[in-house]
Amino acid sequence: MASLTELPDLKRDFDQQLSAAHTEQQVRKVYADFGGANGAIRAKQKELLKTAPNEQKRAIGQATNDILQQVESAFAAALARIANAAAAKDLERTVDVTLPGRVHRLGHLHPITIARREIEEIFAQIGFTVAVGPQVETDFHNFEALAMPKDHPARDMQDTFYVEGSPDVVLRTHTSPVQIRTMLAKKPPVRVIVPGTVYRRDDDATHSPMFNQVEGLCVDVGVTFADLKGVLLHFARRYFGEKIGVRLRPSFFPFTEPSAEIDFTCVFCSGAGCRTCKQTGWIEIGGSGMVDPEVFRQVGYDSEKYTGFAFGWGIDRMAMLKYGIPVITQLFEGDVRFARQFR
Ligand code: FA5
Repeated sequence: MASLTELPDLKRDFDQQLSAAHTEQQVRKVYADFGGANGAIRAKQKELLKTAPNEQKRAIGQATNDILQQVESAFAAALARIANAAAAKDLERTVDVTLPGRVHRLGHLHPITIARREIEEIFAQIGFTVAVGPQVETDFHNFEALAMPKDHPARDMQDTFYVEGSPDVVLRTHTSPVQIRTMLAKKPPVRVIVPGTVYRRDDDATHSPMFNQVEGLCVDVGVTFADLKGVLLHFARRYFGEKIGVRLRPSFFPFTEPSAEIDFTCVFCSGAGCRTCKQTGWIEIGGSGMVDPEVFRQVGYDSEKYTGFAFGWGIDRMAMLKYGIPVITQLFEGDVRFARQFR
């Protein structure tokens, strides 16, 4: 049993090292070195048990287990001491619990997106589906197929950005080319609404070089000008309120015949006359008309059998009217203080 005397030595070494350990990591290491499954005390226990005569084994087991228990308690006490010290240090830190927390603002939609979605939804209710087309467009889809051949003076109405080195490729000047793409891809009946970004060499308070239009196209047997007015009235009332009226004024677009300028009752003075509507009580919204038979010819539709109407306006203008935004560029400046107002 003489070898059992080594156990107190091990315990003393353990106590010394434990009192020198100041972090949880150091404490755990000391414990593992002595009391852990592969620690020095268990190794000594194994060694003693292997060599001792049978009648001494019980006493050896008892003695090492006593030491291991002491090691265990010292380890737990050291961990508790470290945890308490950390907690006390935390309390020392001065935290002003009355300070307001940091607010994380939620993102939200841009007013043009809000307007576009509302417009799409209103037309969806009466059976229109959404169609889209490319912003970089061929001269054919943007002009030719819409009855505007190369020398047509109406091209000047939409001052065009051309893609350098490609005289037949343009940034689309309106959403009307998607009429052509839709009709080339599908036979009547057609009922589509086409939102999209378009480009023109324009730049003033109400004209931007990049803006957004929405186009409507409806083709079927027996579609009339009265249907056009009914659909526009439905939209105007849903978007601006039941009191809004619609007026169609004779106009000209090469791809519609007859053509009409669309006016809505001025949303600022309810038709009484104000500065914005130049005392007329009406505000110009966009263009419309019955699809010209020449356009039907271009897309292979039988103009004897089918008739259709089309219309188009600026989504940006719609949003400006609805929210009373005076300058179109405000919509594109990316100033969050402006955008936040439309949540
Ligand atoms: C057209 O673009 C026709 N494609 C509309 C149309 C469709 C007519 C289908 C007939 C049938 P217009 O060039 O007038 O028409 O433009 C329509 C609307 O786009 C204008 O009323 C205006 O609201 C808006 N708009 C035009 N130019 C700009 C611009 N530079 N910035 C912002 N909005 C603009």
